Amino acid sequence: MNVLLKNKSEIKKIKIASKIASEVLEMIKSYVIPNITTLELNDICHDFIIKKKAIPGCLGYQGFPKSVCISVNDIVCHGIPNKNKKLKNGDIVNIDVTVVKNKYYSDTSKMFFVGKPSILSKRLCYVAKKSLYLAIKVIKPEIKLYKIGETIQKYVEKKGFSVVRDYCGHGIGRYFHEEPQILHYKSNKNNLIIKKNMVFTIEPMINAGSKSVKCMKDGWTVKTKDRSLSAQYEHTVLITKNGCEILTKREKENIKNN
Ligand code: MF3
Ligand code: CO
Ligand code: CO
Repeated sequence: MNVLLKNKSEIKKIKIASKIASEVLEMIKSYVIPNITTLELNDICHDFIIKKKAIPGCLGYQGFPKSVCISVNDIVCHGIPNKNKKLKNGDIVNIDVTVVKNKYYSDTSKMFFVGKPSILSKRLCYVAKKSLYLAIKVIKPEIKLYKIGETIQKYVEKKGFSVVRDYCGHGIGRYFHEEPQILHYKSNKNNLIIKKNMVFTIEPMINAGSKSVKCMKDGWTVKTKDRSLSAQYEHTVLITKNGCEILTKREKENIKNN
C-alpha cells in the first residue's frame, strides 16, 4: 500500500476538517479591520474551532504558541499572533488555519486587506492567488509533481514577482506535514508522479522583491530579507480521476473568474 494515498474513510475525515478550516477564513473576514490586534484575531479563530469540537493544529505544533499563524506585510509565514500588533489601514494579512478533527488535518490560508490596499498590494495578492489556481488547474493523475512548481514559477516571474524557495506545500492527513513535499518552483528533483487519492497542500509564498527570506530571533516569524511585501494562499487538495478537488474551497470563493 502506497503511504501517499488516502483511503475513503481518511478522505472523509480530511473533508470534515477542511470544511471547518475554510469556515474559519470566512468567519474571520469581518474582523480584519484597523486597530484589531493579531492576538484578538487568533482568539476569535481559536474559539470558533473549539466550538466545532475541533483542535487548532498550529497550537503547540513544534512549540508554536498560538492557534493560527498571522503574517502581516513583509512577514512571509509563521507570524505569531501578538497583543501588541495592531492592524492598520493598508496592511495585507495572511491568516493560516490548520484544523484537526477526528485526528485528521486540513490546512488553508488566504490574504485579507485592512481598509484600502495599495495598487502593489492588490497586484501581489492577486498574483499569489492566481498562481495557486493555475497550479490547481494543471493537477491530475499521471503528471509529474514538478509541473505544479513550474506552473507557479513561470506565471509569478512573468508578473515580476518572486517565489519563496525555503518553504513548501506538503502531504496532509493523519499528520500535519507528510510526504510528498510540494515545491512552488521548478526542480528536477520533483519527479514523483501524481496519483489519484493523494491529498496535499499547495501554498505558494510570493514576494514583491527578492525571494530571500530570514527567520527572526523568535524562531518562527519569517520575513522577506529586503522587507518587501509577501503574499500567500493555501488550499488542501484531493487528487481525483481527472483532476483535483479543492477540499478547503470556501463557499463564496470564485475560482473561474480569476
Ligand atoms: N500552516 C503552516 C503550513 O501551511 C504551518 C504552520 S506551522 C506553525 O504548513 F507551527 F507555525 F503553526
Ligand atoms: Co500547509
Ligand atoms: Co498552512
